[in-house]
Amino acid sequence: MGPISKFQKGPPLARLVLIMACLNSVLASVSIASSPTIPTLTLNTGKKIPAIGYGTWQAAEAELEKALDAALEAGYRHIDTAAVYENEKVIGNVIKRWISNGKLKREDIFLVTKVPTYAIDPEGVREYLKKSLANLQMDYVDLYLVHTPFGIKIIEETLHSAVSSGSNVEIDYKTDLLAVWREMEKQVDAGFTKAIGISNFNKSQVKRILDNCKIRPSSLQVELHPYLQQNELVDFCKENNIVVVAYSPLGSLGLSVYIEKLGKKEDFQNVLQNPTIKAIAEKHSKTAAQVVLRFDVQRGIIPIPKSTNLERLKQNLDIFDFELDADDIQKLKKLDAHVRFFNFMIRDGMETHPEYPFKDEVHK
Ligand SMILES: NC(=O)c1ccc[n+]([C@@H]2O[C@H](COP(=O)([O-])OP(=O)(O)OC[C@H]3O[C@@H](n4cnc5c(N)ncnc54)[C@H](OP(=O)(O)O)[C@@H]3O)[C@@H](O)[C@H]2O)c1
Ligand SMILES: *[C@@H]1O[C@H](CO)[C@@H](O)[C@H](O)[C@H]1NC(C)=O
Repeated sequence: MGPISKFQKGPPLARLVLIMACLNSVLASVSIASSPTIPTLTLNTGKKIPAIGYGTWQAAEAELEKALDAALEAGYRHIDTAAVYENEKVIGNVIKRWISNGKLKREDIFLVTKVPTYAIDPEGVREYLKKSLANLQMDYVDLYLVHTPFGIKIIEETLHSAVSSGSNVEIDYKTDLLAVWREMEKQVDAGFTKAIGISNFNKSQVKRILDNCKIRPSSLQVELHPYLQQNELVDFCKENNIVVVAYSPLGSLGLSVYIEKLGKKEDFQNVLQNPTIKAIAEKHSKTAAQVVLRFDVQRGIIPIPKSTNLERLKQNLDIFDFELDADDIQKLKKLDAHVRFFNFMIRDGMETHPEYPFKDEVHK
């Protein structure tokens, strides 16, 4: 039995390599002639962030070029990537082309990237932001995130972001989150990022940052979908003016694709096949995906769905012309099942890291 089966809740997953993709999305608050206006939220920096983003985990460079073009045409202006997604170059290329064609200005784009889990230390923050900016061909990003609260070290050269057995990484027990955060703050001061945030942190970790920071986190990016609604964490973030970004908003369909690539088969509870969600979708003449994404928007949460399919990426953005009513919301709320798909069990013993965020969910 793999380590993941020790989890009380959620399906047994194959052991994953850590490097799952995360992305943020890009949307524009400034509309180009043909694109719809996407609503925005305001960060604690005073800057606007588009209310839906474009996820790019597992979007390989070859397909992403065309898909990102289509996404920008459709109106996405918030783009989520990460060093570990290995697609920053193509994202930079496409955005640069749009800027040099006069179709966009840099400030129309909200670009997010992340410090990799294998570099969660002050030097890593500094070095990897530099690398990301070089890949993206940008002077700054709009939001830089600490990808995970725990760190690992790569002990072999073979690590690839797509697939790894976990045997080539070791746990970095020395992760010092406050030292990491001080370095994140320096990146704001230096102008390399407009805002800073965190991802996969639990409530007590977010609180520790808030209690010890000079610059507050603007955003928390966590797994969030109808089966993991994160009410307590969302309320806590709202009280503290931290914008919540929902990754795997469609229910970790992306993770099931990833597991399949590893040659494994897992029985995922497919959010988009849920009968309650399908019935609500039918009622509004919308798709299940649109209902799920709209639910986030109405909760003040920013979803960052990933699609490189030209139809689906447009569909995912087309959620601002309908409203879920109180009855729909009540039914959707009942679907919360505390099912977490991403437990980051990169290798055996991950839960022994002092900053492993889901300790309370591990069966002892
Ligand atoms: N911070 C983190 O640790 C972290 C972790 C995971 C993810 N993320 C970020 O969050 C983003 C989204 O999460 P995710 O990629 O895990 O999952 P997701 O967005 O919930 O689902 C993406 C999957 O659903 C499919 N899909 C997209 N739209 C669809 C639709 N309308 N109907 C049916 N299927 C649809 C996509 O396939 P097609 O492309 O073929 O449409 C893809 O396989 C990531 O790309 C990444 O940017 C961050
Ligand atoms: C949150 O993370 C801390 C590590 O910083 C851990 O000790 C604690 O158990 C976690 N809380 C939950 C609810 O899992």
